[in-house]
Amino acid sequence: MDVFRAIEQRRSVKHFDPQHRMSPQETRCLLHNALLAPSAFNLQHWRFVLLQDPAIRQQVRQLAWDQPQITDAALLVVICGDRNAWQRQPQRNWAHLPETQQGQILTAIDQYYRDKPQVQQDEVIRSGALAAQNLMLAAKALGYDSCPMIGFDFTAVGQLIELPADHAIVLMVAIGKKTREPWPRGSQLSLEDVCFSDRFTRPCQLND
Ligand SMILES: Cc1cc2nc3c(=O)[nH]c(=O)nc-3n(C[C@H](O)[C@H](O)[C@H](O)COP(=O)(O)O)c2cc1C
Repeated sequence: MDVFRAIEQRRSVKHFDPQHRMSPQETRCLLHNALLAPSAFNLQHWRFVLLQDPAIRQQVRQLAWDQPQITDAALLVVICGDRNAWQRQPQRNWAHLPETQQGQILTAIDQYYRDKPQVQQDEVIRSGALAAQNLMLAAKALGYDSCPMIGFDFTAVGQLIELPADHAIVLMVAIGKKTREPWPRGSQLSLEDVCFSDRFTRPCQLND
């Protein structure tokens, strides 16, 4: 499937076949593609918790307004992020570089994140969101559908998955075999509504 078709056909699906089992190879393929997302300084803040125990799925469903995707998806991933990725051995993210270049990047990373909790948190959300989109597009290409989700109690789910104190939950992604079509696509804002030329006060002319 080419990327334009995957983008066009990805929709948020809410009803999955609870009997469908995803093979370990398919699961690995999807997660491998998530790992190829870009991240600032290649810090790869994402951490993935796969909810595999049916009992935990039931508990999470109760914490998520009883949304059926939680129990019925073949794969349910809590995408988290490490706020301290910037200081958790960042040299391993640049291990292939000669020592001098590695040193320059490590200095830049330190300057960018040290004592900046808001930037550390924002970075987790940026990286996790990019990984989620890779995951959902790869799922589409593999014949699956998906649903990104924030409709759950983050604090309670964090406790259930034993989220480390310096990590944050970004969102969940449910992936499975669709049993019902999604709602018709919502209204899209136009390019004119959302694109500007140099300044917000200048509309962008995109006509030929
Ligand atoms: C961050 C985020 C959180 C979402 N949370 C939920 C959710 O908890 N439950 C749900 O059914 N859909 C959820 N959605 C799906 C949105 O409703 C959906 O993306 C939007 O209506 C656009 O539809 P589409 O994804 O089919 O294009 C979420 C989407 C995003 C991006």
